[in-house]
Amino acid sequence: MIEQNVSLKPYNTFGLNAQAKLMARVNSVAALQEVLADVKLKKEERFILGGGSNLLLTKDIDGLVIKNELAGIEVVNETPEHFFIKSGAGVVWHELVLHCIANGYAGIENLSLIPGNVGAAPMQNIGAYGVELKDVFHSLEAVEMATGNVESFSASDCEFGYRESVFKRKLKGQFIISSVTLKLNKKPNFNTSYGAIEEELQRLGISSPSIKTVSQAVINIRQSKLPDPKVLGNSGSFFKNPVVPTSQYEELQAKHPNIPGYPAGDETKLAAGWLIEQCGWKGKVVGNTGSHAKQALVLVNYGNATGVEIFKLSEQIMSSVYDAFGVRLEREVNVY
Ligand code: EPU
Repeated sequence: MIEQNVSLKPYNTFGLNAQAKLMARVNSVAALQEVLADVKLKKEERFILGGGSNLLLTKDIDGLVIKNELAGIEVVNETPEHFFIKSGAGVVWHELVLHCIANGYAGIENLSLIPGNVGAAPMQNIGAYGVELKDVFHSLEAVEMATGNVESFSASDCEFGYRESVFKRKLKGQFIISSVTLKLNKKPNFNTSYGAIEEELQRLGISSPSIKTVSQAVINIRQSKLPDPKVLGNSGSFFKNPVVPTSQYEELQAKHPNIPGYPAGDETKLAAGWLIEQCGWKGKVVGNTGSHAKQALVLVNYGNATGVEIFKLSEQIMSSVYDAFGVRLEREVNVY
């Protein structure tokens, strides 16, 4: 069934009040193919909506929103060392994480509490605390919008990078991810090297971690700095951490000895949160929006912000970071 004039406020974690002219909720590949083949809908602009957690809506959508609600989690294969878990793209990512932890499938515990749905995870190669989706990815299936055909993609087909994949670049707007298969470990291989996790495990009095306790540590850390979208609209990190030539980092370091930098291949990744904080934005309220008091990289909606207002704030932040450091920030969120 196609719904008309739907408010998208409940469907984006910024809580922005944009309207969709038409909306189709699809809970199977067949239903999705039917919508794609519908001649009456062919002329409409199509917009694919997952969990709406990485989305800044600056205007209404004068077209067809396809809401991906493909459900289901199953074990599709097993070897002595691995479980292969296939999940519908419409499953809430954290629900998949909790399901895996409850069943002893290891590898995504560090990715606990990342907002959004499973379909978005490969789209932007989600990552946190030293783990990225690509580390546990096996394959995905996606429906080609033009033909309705289902195609399979391996990890190399996806061309994963830092918050990047082929679906944000070459194949942008061409495929709808329908399911994702992860290759998870029977024997956990903990990645607790990220300082904050070690500290939190110590604070919890845990000397030998389990996937459950690592997940709990990650949840505690995230909850201590990142605002809950149900309480304060936001989309996690608004910008990417910029990667610059190491020579540029060294020049910056000469002027700003405390500037954080992390090796990224032969380049250096800077902490966007630090750059933004140095420019005085952290905790600053600008009208109905602002940079979060506990994590400068997160922009928030204090209740009645519009997407345009948040976009304008992001432009101001980008230009002040450029003026102060000569570094261009890039948005992580998708702006519509
Ligand atoms: N920092 C500041 N001030 C701030 C925030 C950060 O100075 O207000 C500096 C500190 O030096 C801190 C460093 O930035 O040590 C890194 O901060 P943090 O550990 O909070 O991580 P992040 O680089 O800001 C990235 C991801 C997050 C992910 C965390 C943890 C990006 C764009 N963001 O944030 O992912 O949860 O690491 O691994 O890569 C997201 O993508 O939406 C997201 C939340």
